Amino acid sequence: MANYQNQRGTYDAFDEEAISIENTVETLKDIVKFYGYSPIHTPIYEQTELFARTSGESSDIVTKEMFTFTDKGGRNITLRPEVTAGVIRAIVNNKLYATKDLPLKYYYYGPAFRYERPSKGRYRQFNQFGVECVGVNSFLSDVETISLGFTALQNLGFENVILKINTLGDEESRNAYQIALREYFKDKVENMCADCKRRYEQNVLRILDCKDPDDQEIIKDAPKMKDYLNDISKEYFKNVLMYLDEQQIPYEIDDTLVRGLDYYSHVVFEYHYYLKDGTSLGAIGAGGHYDNLVNEIGGPKLSSVGFAIGIERVNTLLQDILKDQLEKPYLDVYVIHMGEETLQTAFMLTQELRNNCFRVDMCLENKSISQQIKLANRKNAKYALIIGENELKTYVYPIKNLLTTTQEEVSYQDLVDYLTNKIILMEDEEC
Ligand code: HAM
Repeated sequence: MANYQNQRGTYDAFDEEAISIENTVETLKDIVKFYGYSPIHTPIYEQTELFARTSGESSDIVTKEMFTFTDKGGRNITLRPEVTAGVIRAIVNNKLYATKDLPLKYYYYGPAFRYERPSKGRYRQFNQFGVECVGVNSFLSDVETISLGFTALQNLGFENVILKINTLGDEESRNAYQIALREYFKDKVENMCADCKRRYEQNVLRILDCKDPDDQEIIKDAPKMKDYLNDISKEYFKNVLMYLDEQQIPYEIDDTLVRGLDYYSHVVFEYHYYLKDGTSLGAIGAGGHYDNLVNEIGGPKLSSVGFAIGIERVNTLLQDILKDQLEKPYLDVYVIHMGEETLQTAFMLTQELRNNCFRVDMCLENKSISQQIKLANRKNAKYALIIGENELKTYVYPIKNLLTTTQEEVSYQDLVDYLTNKIILMEDEEC
């Protein structure tokens, strides 16, 4: 017999876990709409060159993690490792910057793919919810975006989100800093890991991101970005921090934070969350300001900012934080029938109640009443509506509250009103 397993780094989610993911995404959608965002949908695969160019030839994503293949037409295709590049490509292709008011504010949700070593909260296919605010040249848009991510995570149930923030400065500052870093690592890189040797040649900034403990010892004494910022970059960062202070958004400045993608300038940030036992799954969301992405893809130069939240990381942590509060699948009514003659009426009534916006199910085969009651309980039904031969004539149905086991008789005409009142009452009590 064939035995098919899900692929390494992928997962199946169902029932409570899947409901929790959907609720998380719905909550995020509701929040970003308050900030003027509308949805954008882009393909999950693009030509490889788009990601190679925007994420950076030297980034781990491009050198090690992309799912790349040649399609039957000989095109070089990559499953998106992140969504930003595709969103900006769509904005440029559709000339949205020319036909709509700036800034463009788009949110998205969907899968991304990275060939990483799987671990808790780290998958090869994972989902990101993100926003991109494109075409506004003000530090306030960075503040607004950072604060949106922070508020969104709080709304999801994360009470003590830690915001790590850094600046990569403008191009002039970054160039000066890179020269200083090259000088510092010049005679040290020989003793560092193979990745750092490559990073030294391709993008020395990326060495700061190395996780090798021996390399980190060397990195800790490296020159700091803050000493190479020109006045414009200093002022920019100062303003962002000042407004975060004003809004009482706590942050930690982390001068090793360079991010894994090449398109950032000025402010970069990550949201972290630590469980009570001190463990972390890595950043639960991250983003930054970018100035050159739109023009690199063929549009005008437009300052932009965005972030993406890792839905699996958020969800794994929420399962832990909220535990018993996670929504279970449930039904409002389970319709129970007694034998062949009542099946058709039960079916029609079930459909009618569904059309009236109740969550209803029934057994579509002949089963004993006790088996059907068991099913109703297993499906977490609030009420059981019972249809016997007598009820076919009287149009009056016994309705059993499965929680209290009390039973009442309700006529067909009063059914919808009765259930509406009862269910609203029950929801109020649950609140
Ligand atoms: P990123 O930091 O590469 O940024 O990813 C954003 C978030 O996606 C991470 O903080 C993490 O929660 C989640 N994530 C990343 N890799 C994995 C994985 N293998 N398994 C599970 N979750 C993962 C970006 O992707 C940028 N596009 C964000 C951005 C938007 N910057 C500007 N606009």
